[in-house]
Order: sequence, then structure tokens, then C-alpha cells
Amino acid sequence: MQIVRQLDPLRDALAEFRKAGAKIGLVPTMGALHAGHMRLVEVAMEQCDAVVASIFVNPTQFGEGEDLDAYPRQEATDAALLKAAGVSLLWAPTADQVYPKGYATQISVSGISDGLCGAARPGHFDGVATVVAKLFNQVRPDAAFFGEKDYQQLAVIRRMARDLDFTHDIIGVPTVRDSDGLALSSRNAYLTAEQRANAVALPDTMREAANAIAAGGPVAAILEAAKARMLASGFHKIDYLELRNAETLAELDVFAAPARLFGAAHIGRTRLIDNIPVS
Ligand code: PAF
Repeated sequence: MQIVRQLDPLRDALAEFRKAGAKIGLVPTMGALHAGHMRLVEVAMEQCDAVVASIFVNPTQFGEGEDLDAYPRQEATDAALLKAAGVSLLWAPTADQVYPKGYATQISVSGISDGLCGAARPGHFDGVATVVAKLFNQVRPDAAFFGEKDYQQLAVIRRMARDLDFTHDIIGVPTVRDSDGLALSSRNAYLTAEQRANAVALPDTMREAANAIAAGGPVAAILEAAKARMLASGFHKIDYLELRNAETLAELDVFAAPARLFGAAHIGRTRLIDNIPVS
């Protein structure tokens, strides 16, 4: 596996893949890889001939007071995992290859970025859309792979790709969970043992609420009761627990398919998010 940090050698390597007729898959990440990322790689390997993984902890998607400095960085371990999985190239750009001096352009996807994590983390999706557009232009993949764990991010990226005429496939990959149901996340590493044990209240409560809503129960009352249960189980702040249309992300007061339940809550210093289908 080649590890490339500069754009010129990246373009040379990609030209070689294309000359060989390879279908190129891109798996964008911020590193600290876990089984969820490796599932993206696995799906990319199944669908493509050459897989490029990127690791770049993108500063523009972190707000003030968020965990940019604390975000886990472990490139050597990540590189070993990617190599063992059969990835052809690791694109680990230096910051100036993504944001050169004088960089002034930002992509903002209105509407779909506004609620949920967009409301809780102002500017977050502008940073995501901008860096993902840059990665798409740098790698020019035939397909790019993203986890459904960040469902709103996936929706923002799909809309950005459609609006800006990126023609490659955007593939969403179902969330990978620990055996107790907690969605895998690089941020789970921040949890103490006690917080980790309590964190399962997020998926548990969401699953119960989703079942009650699908059975025809009153949405607002079910969501209020679910929030109270989470607050009684070790979470100290809930950013949102909302029922939304799974395609448009429009908020739903009454259940109508296709629907998805979205949650974000804080436990200790860690903010966890999750989403599940309601059907
Ligand atoms: O999901 C992530 O890891 C990041 O938001 C992404 C898509 C790599 C952009 O920095």
C-alpha cells in the first residue's frame, strides 16, 4: 500500500490505476479506524478494483470548544489495518494540500444541513461538504463510501454531489454496532468504563421508541418519555431526539414511511449520535 501526502504523487498513482482500467473506490475517514470504517473498506473492496482510503482530521468541521485537538490520531495503526485489508493507497494529505495558503472557498448545502447535527454544531456540515468535495476532486473516484451512522452527513454529501455534478456513485453502508448495540464511533474511545456501560441507553431507548412509534403511538409523547429515560441512564444533555423523513430529513409529527429516528446526546465529555429506521 502506498502512503501519499502530496497531490502530485497522488495524481501519478491514480493515473496508473486508471491506465490499468481499475474502478477506483474512495473511503474518506478522519482516522482512528474501527470496525465501522473497515466495513466501508470491505464494501469498497467488493465493488472496486483499487481502493483509496483517506485520513485527514478536517479542522473546518470542528466548532469552537469541540474535540479537534483531542481527536484520536493513530496513523501507523490505521495504515497497518488498511494495508491488511487490501487498500491500494492511503491518501494522508498534509494540511496545505487541502487548505493551501489563502484558501477562501466554502461549500454550504442549505436545508438538509440545517436541523439535527447542523443545529447543534453550526458550520459543521459546511466543513464536511467542503472537504468531501475537495477529496472527490483530488481522487476523482468511481464510487465513494460513507457510513449510515452519520446519516445526515450522508444526505448532505448526496445533495452536494448532485448539485455540483459529481457523477460517481455515493454508497451508504449500514451502521456497525458493538454486541450490545452501541454504534461504533471513534469517539467511543473517550468513554470511561461506566459511561460505556451507560451509553447503551442511547440505542436501547431509540429502539424502544421506534417500535412504539411504528405501532402507532403518539410521537411527541414517546420521544419525551425516551429523552427522560436517557437522562435517567447517565446522559446529561440531549441535543435532539427526532422523527424525520428518511429521504428529505423533514421533521415528522406523525409517523409516515419512510421514517427514521435520529438522536444525539452527551455522556461525560462525549457526544454520541445514532439513527435507526422506523418501520
Ligand atoms: O465521517 C467522517 O469521518 C468525516 O466527516 C469525513 C466524511 C471523512 C469528512 O472529513
